[in-house]
Amino acid sequence: MADAELRRPEPATVAEPPTEARLAEGGLRLEVDGAVATVTLARPERRNAMTFATWRTLAAVGRSLPSEVRVVVLRGDGPSFSAGIDLSMFSGGEEGFPSGEDGAAGDRFIAELQEGYTWLRRPEIVTVAAVHGHAIGGGFQLALACDIRIASEDAKFCMKEPALGLVPDLTGTKPLVEIVGVNRALELCLTARTVDAAEAARLGLVERVVPVGGLDEAVAALTVELLAVNAGAAVATKRLLLEAPQNTLAEQCAAERREQLGRLRELSAALRG
Ligand code: ACO
Repeated sequence: MADAELRRPEPATVAEPPTEARLAEGGLRLEVDGAVATVTLARPERRNAMTFATWRTLAAVGRSLPSEVRVVVLRGDGPSFSAGIDLSMFSGGEEGFPSGEDGAAGDRFIAELQEGYTWLRRPEIVTVAAVHGHAIGGGFQLALACDIRIASEDAKFCMKEPALGLVPDLTGTKPLVEIVGVNRALELCLTARTVDAAEAARLGLVERVVPVGGLDEAVAALTVELLAVNAGAAVATKRLLLEAPQNTLAEQCAAERREQLGRLRELSAALRG
């Protein structure tokens, strides 16, 4: 991922938020309340199954996020977080899949859908997936795209794509491997088995597990904790931690020095008034 793709758009280039009609077409709701944006997957009658419109609209939400927003929560209406891709799309539901024959066009097509997920890793925001019920395929990958996963005890995760003849291509393979390692990731993907909340916690796939019905309260409490941290320190720390897996120790030490000097400059400027 190029660094530029992980940066918040400059204020002048922040797009207009998607209209209510566009959000509805994507099966989404968006609420922005000061420093907190909540994106709700809102097709409970389809277990929040997602379409191309969902992913494109998610990308539009990312492009339009106001600069005051520091925490983004992703949650689902109804009994499930998300049942993944809307299976009706395999029978020509919304629009055709690229055939794979025209490699460049297919590559652009999938890259555009992936944009719905990549913005969640931007250092300027902390993203929280609030998972209950099923998180399958693209739904599991959406949770994996977030920084922190908080799950209720009824949460179930499944990487279903290989069972359907596909690969997980909505940015999920990298965080999955980083969290559980290649061997466990292979086992989970190639069996497409379901991982319950307790196992997900053991594997590090979720950071917190809460009783069924307690998710909203737990997310609200987590949000308060996250917002209590100095905003600049939060951005710099996320940037630093995101770099760590790719960096050598020497590179990471240099990154720590660079970020700390930035913090010290900002803190002393604030002290001087
Ligand atoms: N796409 C389209 N419709 C869906 C999907 C989906 N992915 N998942 C559920 N629905 C619909 C069902 O067809 C059903 O519709 P109906 O009321 O018209 O019959 C409704 O949502 C409720 O679904 P149920 O199966 O009745 O709900 P239940 O709670 O028993 O099961 C579950 C939920 C486990 C999520 C089940 O629906 C399921 O397995 N869905 C398919 C999951 C899947 O294979 N997703 C693709 C993953 S791969 C990827 O994302 C790339």
